[in-house]
Amino acid sequence: MKAVKFQGIKACVYDAYGTLFDVHSAVGKHKDRLGEKADAVSNIWRMKQLEYTWLRSLMENHADFWQVTREALDYAFDTNDVDDPQLVSDLMDAYLQLECYPEVKDTLSLLKQGGAKNVILSNGSPMMLEAAVEHAGIGDLIDQIFSVESIKIYKPSPQVYQLATRGLGIQANQISFQSSNAFDVAGSANFGFQVAWINRFGQRKERLPAGADAELKSLAELPELLDL
Ligand code: LAC
Repeated sequence: MKAVKFQGIKACVYDAYGTLFDVHSAVGKHKDRLGEKADAVSNIWRMKQLEYTWLRSLMENHADFWQVTREALDYAFDTNDVDDPQLVSDLMDAYLQLECYPEVKDTLSLLKQGGAKNVILSNGSPMMLEAAVEHAGIGDLIDQIFSVESIKIYKPSPQVYQLATRGLGIQANQISFQSSNAFDVAGSANFGFQVAWINRFGQRKERLPAGADAELKSLAELPELLDL
């Protein structure tokens, strides 16, 4: 995809998990305790976590992202025949201290110096997001955090993306939204943001009604897209 420059942007809004924070760094920290099952556990954990957010939203039976994350981990352990309550507890703790991707801090800093407003819009509960931001040491680079917990429905409901337009008092097309999660890219583009897909792992595009306006390999390419 040829990246055209984004115009008229008033805020840079970021997805959290997978975009700023590496969700697989939790299992990565305890890899030796899972042996050859480590990758399977981490992948199923993430997939189920997202699946449960979609299902709970459709069922209109909300639980916060901390509970959903724990239930998805229980499923991942069960599927892989792992029974280790201490490891469950350690992995949940690790989820509060995820590593951020290597380019995140410098990019946010560069954008802030260029006058951009950096905002997080995430499924994460406020407690989880605050912990992750603090652990990553990016607190002074983030202007605002919007969590779905205030409306109790998950992405890709348009109500979630509306948290940013309402909260910031700007139009959807004045927001540059960055996500590595293809479903979130579709949902946010469907809402009307200008969307940059941070396609870190060269995934194929989704066959959904709306798609990215630009595709980047990492957030490091964002300042150029925004002309900052
Ligand atoms: C989030 C999920 C989608 O941070 O990763 O909202």
